[in-house]
Amino acid sequence: MSRPFVPSPNVASIKESATIAVSQRAKALRAVGRAIIDLGAGEPDFDTPAFIRDATKQALDDGATRYTAVDGILPLREAIAADATRRRAGRDAPVTAGEVVVSTGSKQALHNATFSLFGPGDEVLLPVPSWVSYFEMVGLARANAIEVPGDPARGLKVTPALLERYATPRTRGLMLNSPSNPTGAVYDADELRAIVDLAAARGWWLVSDEIYARITYSMAEAPSVFDVASHRENVVCINGVAKAYAMTGFRIGWAVAPRAVAQTMTALQSHTTSNAATESQYAALAALTRTTEADAAVRDMVGEFKARRDAALGILTAIPGLDLVKPDGAFYLYFRAPGGDGTAYATRLLEDEGIAVVPGAAFGTPDWVRVSYAAARADVEDAMHRIVRSWSA
Ligand SMILES: Cc1ncc(COP(=O)(O)O)c(C=O)c1O
Repeated sequence: MSRPFVPSPNVASIKESATIAVSQRAKALRAVGRAIIDLGAGEPDFDTPAFIRDATKQALDDGATRYTAVDGILPLREAIAADATRRRAGRDAPVTAGEVVVSTGSKQALHNATFSLFGPGDEVLLPVPSWVSYFEMVGLARANAIEVPGDPARGLKVTPALLERYATPRTRGLMLNSPSNPTGAVYDADELRAIVDLAAARGWWLVSDEIYARITYSMAEAPSVFDVASHRENVVCINGVAKAYAMTGFRIGWAVAPRAVAQTMTALQSHTTSNAATESQYAALAALTRTTEADAAVRDMVGEFKARRDAALGILTAIPGLDLVKPDGAFYLYFRAPGGDGTAYATRLLEDEGIAVVPGAAFGTPDWVRVSYAAARADVEDAMHRIVRSWSA
């Protein structure tokens, strides 16, 4: 006898990723012949640099086709640990490969972290707007996401005072993302230090998602928590290769965490996916260790992102009083929708103007929309002109 499917309580309230849903709707419209400019995607539109693709092929030919250690191949973990150690600048013991867990994308690294650190009844502070998946990841750990509205006067970033306002005795940690998806705002070293210090003083876990750190416009790289924290016992630092090196499909990310946390995350991962794809780990190793080629590739891509950002901002100045976060990193523009309804506006842009953007409701701020400029410059410019033209329609 067949029974109707009733989702288990584990997933009963889970929602599909809104950003992926937008891209699917855009693809569906394209499939029926509509010309759609997809500014919904959170993925660089560049090819993976050739030296990384070549290194991957070489790794396969050299036999990188079997399981590896669950937490990843040693040279990759060592390269990640060496970078973290350099940032610590002698403030504490060198970071070891045993404190690094390589995962299937930074998404899995974040899930490993939230699932290992937080549990039923815990409260986790989420500065909003916040990347879609944090809400669900905290929920999967059966913890409660506590939204902390960012300060409009500070590019929607949070401050220690704002975080304190939402803290309770049940607060166990906080998720931070700089440069931010969706706003592109970057926490400078002082802002970051103030938050790390607060987390340390209050005994909170700080999960710092630095996936966009290399995509910045007024500095070489966004500050990392490891650059500023006086100690790192309460810090889990997340990064990956997807965005900086245009390697989204390789699915390699990692966490650097205190050893006991790293061991727990590895145990969790040993029962879910085991190691991240072996050849992808070698691809990531090439990206992290062949620095001359990698730096040149990143410079080129970031230069193009910057040109698009500047072009887009220049066109949008035609909208008087536009409430927009001036982005200094990542590849998104975040602005308040006309009429204050981001969902209605995103629908109107898609149906009337053929432009796919993500409603701010996905990020906890329903009156805003996110526009990605990870698309051809001509398309970005075309879309911005259409946004200006249709603004008060
Ligand atoms: C803030 C943020 N963190 C993590 C990820 C996940 O990246 P990955 O492809 O490494 O899983 C994304 C991807 O959109 C992101 O925007």
